[in-house]
Amino acid sequence: MKRIIVISLILLMLPVFAVIGQQKEVNLYGSAEVRTIEYLAQQYEKETGVRVNWIRLSSGETLAKLRAESANPQGDVWWGGTTDPHSIAALEGLTEDYKPSIYDEIDPRFRDPLGNGSVIGVYVGALGFSVNKKLLDKMGLPVPKGWEDLLDPRYKGLIGVANINTSGTALTTLATQIFRLGEDEGMEYMKKLHANISNYTKSGSAPGILAGRGEIAIAIIFLHDSIYHAEQGYPVIPVAPVEGTGFEIGAVNLIAGAPNPEEAKKFIDWVISAKTQEGLGSVGSYQIPTNINAKVPDVAIPIDEVNTVDYDFNWVAENGTRIMDRWTREVFVLPR
Ligand code: G6P
Repeated sequence: MKRIIVISLILLMLPVFAVIGQQKEVNLYGSAEVRTIEYLAQQYEKETGVRVNWIRLSSGETLAKLRAESANPQGDVWWGGTTDPHSIAALEGLTEDYKPSIYDEIDPRFRDPLGNGSVIGVYVGALGFSVNKKLLDKMGLPVPKGWEDLLDPRYKGLIGVANINTSGTALTTLATQIFRLGEDEGMEYMKKLHANISNYTKSGSAPGILAGRGEIAIAIIFLHDSIYHAEQGYPVIPVAPVEGTGFEIGAVNLIAGAPNPEEAKKFIDWVISAKTQEGLGSVGSYQIPTNINAKVPDVAIPIDEVNTVDYDFNWVAENGTRIMDRWTREVFVLPR
């Protein structure tokens, strides 16, 4: 009898132990480079003991995932990737506004790209080309200086960019042409560029590796990715287009209906801190941090030194899905 009572007591207490020992966790969807997200996850676990379950998906893929999961959200935080798909998600109610505890530490130029508190800026980077000069020299071709140079038929099959439907980098590329030339002219430009594209990759930075390996000569990617690839030994140089270029404000957002909203908020506060943003340079993430107290990596290209177009984040939030569809119907289907 005594044994039965003892066993019953132990059984009764098991759920209590289970609750006490329950591991806190946060589900992270990351859209910057894999090495960066892995670094954040490991660092956060080390500092807080909270388990980070993470995956890396391109910005457009993450938007698609949030839409697909909207009835039963699985993610808590979406960190990294360009503002544009984040802002489309916010408009569709897939993310929730959250004001970080150290909001004042974020550079006012970048903390609120839409001006309505729906997207939080965590890093900044300019779009450009990563050029395999060695290969172009061998082919007797010049290094392109700007967007219009890319239309030269001699570059046919030598240029790579990601697919606009999956990649935020590629959507920035399309929007840049629209802000430079107007919507219809921008689409015309994309059609001409399409004729020279070797292939469209899923992830934004992937063409940079192809250029590094000499499979293509010119990648349209963010300049900080080109700097990292050069550092890895690839014979590439970053080129900022002379006509002016687009730029990203990398974003973080709380996912609407997140299973662990309190953990998500703590994680967002942490990724905004100067210490965390500064640490990203240690894994070759050379974007400009948005926290005013974070040291900028020595090799980073200051955004003020790049000739940028007037990038209207609100216009892309409202028109992004429509111009993606338009590009798919009018440009992507054309023979090359
Ligand atoms: C790279 C860049 C990031 C950018 C991201 C967008 O990882 O380093 O700064 O935010 O690309 O990724 P995506 O695959 O959506 O173009």
